[in-house]
Parts: sequence; C-alpha cells; structure tokens
Amino acid sequence: MVPETYQVDAGGHITIGGMRIEDLAAKFGTPLYVFDYQTLVNRLTMFQSAVSQSAVPGMVAYAAKAFFTVPMGRLIQSLGLGLDVVSGGELFTALAAGIDPQRIMFHGNVKTPEEIAWGLDRGVGYWVVDSLDELDQLDQAAGERHQEAAVVLRLTPGIDAHTHAFIRTGHFDSKFGFAMAEGISDRAVERVLNARHLRLAGFHAHIGSQILETEPFLANAEALLRYSRSWYDQKGWWPEVLDIGGGFGVRYQPDDDPPNPAAIIQTVQSLLAEWTPATQRPPRLIVEPGRSVVAEAGVTIYTVRARKTTPGGHGYVAVDGGMGDNIRPALYQAVYQAEIDGKVHSDRRIPVSLVGRYCESGDVLIPQAHLPAADVGDRVVVFGTGAYNYAMASTYNRVPRPAVVVVREGQPTVWVRRETWQDLITLDNP
Ligand code: LLP
Repeated sequence: MVPETYQVDAGGHITIGGMRIEDLAAKFGTPLYVFDYQTLVNRLTMFQSAVSQSAVPGMVAYAAKAFFTVPMGRLIQSLGLGLDVVSGGELFTALAAGIDPQRIMFHGNVKTPEEIAWGLDRGVGYWVVDSLDELDQLDQAAGERHQEAAVVLRLTPGIDAHTHAFIRTGHFDSKFGFAMAEGISDRAVERVLNARHLRLAGFHAHIGSQILETEPFLANAEALLRYSRSWYDQKGWWPEVLDIGGGFGVRYQPDDDPPNPAAIIQTVQSLLAEWTPATQRPPRLIVEPGRSVVAEAGVTIYTVRARKTTPGGHGYVAVDGGMGDNIRPALYQAVYQAEIDGKVHSDRRIPVSLVGRYCESGDVLIPQAHLPAADVGDRVVVFGTGAYNYAMASTYNRVPRPAVVVVREGQPTVWVRRETWQDLITLDNP
C-alpha cells in the first residue's frame, strides 16, 4: 500500500513531491533519500500553529536528531521554530543555518567542556540539565563568563510509555534525567536554586518515542505541573517554561493510528492554565517533535540487484542499500512498508524478505514483505524513512551514504550530496 502522501498513476508508478520515482532514480542514482518539501512544511506549520493558539504562545523546538542538515535548519528558521540539539555538531549545524541561539534547547546527558563553553559563548537559550555533575560544570563555566545560564531540569516522572525498550525514557530506571522519587529531583532543584550562575527556568520530561496514545503525554504534563506546584507552595518558585519533549507517533503501517499532536498540545495548554497559581503566568509550553515532522515526508529508493530462493522456499530480494542507510529494522525491529515502482497495482504478490547489501545476516529491511515478483533493476520504494534514517546512517562496509534530495512542485534540490569513495578516505592518515 502506498501512503496518502504519495501519488500513484494508472501504470503503478509512484510520484513524490510532483516528481516520478523513476526520474529521481535516473537523475540521482540509488539508494536515495527523497523528501516531499510540502509535507515537511505542512508538519512544521501544523505544530507551529498548534502552540500559537494559546494566550501564552509556546515554542516548537524541532528535535534535530531525527533529521538535520543546514537546509533543514534554514527551513526551521524561516518558519520561526526553535530547535532541540544534543551535541556541538547539531549546534554548529544550527548556527551555520542561521538559527537564533535564543530558540535553542541544549539537551543531552553528556555535554563536553568544549560544548558547554561554546554554547555559553553563542548564547544558547536553555540548558536542559541531566545530572548534578552537569549542573556544577555549567555553573562554573557560566561563572567564568559572568553569565547566568537558564536551566531546564530533565525529570523522569515514572511513566512507562508503550514503545520499544530502546526508545523509552520516562521510567525511573533510565539513564536520562532526575527521578521524581526518593528526593532525587528535589536535590537537583535545590542545587539550581542555590547556584550562583544558574537560573531555574523550568522542567522537562520526554517519556519516549513513537508513542501512539494520548494519555502518556497528558500524564507527563500533569506530573510536571504537580511538581511545579509543590515548589510554588514551598518556595514561591514557578516555572517560566515547561517542556514535554517529543515522541508523537507516526503511521508506519496502515493500521497504526497516531494521535493528533495539535489536540494534545491544546489539552496540555489548558492544563497549564488550570494548574497556574492566580498570581502567576502559565509557563510557556515547549514541544520537541522530531519523528512526527519528518518520518512520513521521506522515502528511500533502492534498486533490486539480486533475487534468490532458499531450499525451504524462502524468497529474498536484495537491494543496493540496507542497514547502512536504515539501521532501524535491525536495531528496533521497526517495520516498514515498501512497493515496487511500476508494479503497485499488481495483485499477484509473494512473501519475500527485502534484504540489504551489507555483510551481516541481520541486514534485513523488511523480513516479511508482500511484493509483486521483482526483476533486477526494479526500483523499490520504502516509505516513512524520513526520521532516524539519514540521521543514523553509517559507512559500514565502506559503503558511501546516499544523497538527500528534496522535491518541491516537481523540482528536486540536493540537500546532501552523495558521499563518494574519495570522501571515505579523506580522514584517513595517508
Ligand atoms: N526530545 C527529547 C529530549 C528526545 O530525547 C527526543 C528523542 C525527542 C525530543 C524527539 O522524539 P521524537 O518526536 O522524534 O519521537 N533513534 C530512535 C529514536 C530515538 C529518540 C530519542 N529521543 C528511533 O529511530 O526510533
């Protein structure tokens, strides 16, 4: 099945952003990441208008980790969004794209001294702090610069979102955040309130990724609000921002039923108003969608290179990419949908494993695909690959990473050029 974002003609040929898959493959080669520009813009503006509805407008801090390049940064900046970064590299890319540092949240459970120094010097808006050690390091570095750093404490509210264990982060026994238990988060709050060069701006909790229910988002917001309220009652401190993270699920398979982020944002904003003491302003809501902005805007095009059937009758279709450009099936048992361009309308389908070209038995893109009989040279389109594919790509087996092309009204623009064999050796000591 072809998701709604893409068009299919009578001959079973697929179009993305007004350009045919076969033309993209011919012009740019395969494997190729392709994004539909309009879908990117639609998703970003949907989030942007959702947070702007309230009397206290919030901020969308797009999670760079899902997919980020300089052109993507320019798009974020032009639409007025903020950004969640987790490393000096993401920050460097953001600044190269002209993103306003005041709209940047610097996350991550480890920030090196260089990253802290550089972020302070560039005027990063908020520091999302994950440990007491980091609080001390940030306090000291801010002091050396006669600055006051705005701190958002990352908390773990003890919420178990139903998603893959590797992308679940809200439970107490997580490497992320301060547990809201046994006085752990209380000690962190005290430490910030008493620090000389830190200002406690608010709280943050991100409970996981690819969450397909609404309830955990509301439970998360309520946990942060209840906790804020307890500090207001004790010390008169009230947050200026509350950051509920990202995690909004997307439709990878036809029967996935993702929640509506705009409705969740609206409900959370009314919770913020409800919990705010009469003398205070509601905190600004920060949301950090990554996957839900980019996943469904992207596809990967491959070319079939080999087929075989094993003695048990198990069919394999092997393509020219695989785990180097999409590690998610191997890492999270992620399930994708695929079609063969030009054969979409075929109803004679056979169960096959769609596998990659890497020297690893686990390099299986789709273990149980139902595809029309494939011929060598056919183009296979894997849908919904816009999030955490290019971002997590590697050069395993010294296979260069694919190009990223963005199509707008039938016009392609290269956002990232294809890596070359020469690129692969440029960092090597000759
Ligand atoms: N904010 C924070 C603090 C996060 O840790 C994350 C994701 C996000 C926002 C964005 O979450 P999203 O809206 O994209 O779900 N590589 C994994 C996903 C790891 C997500 C890590 N944190 C995957 O491919 O599924």
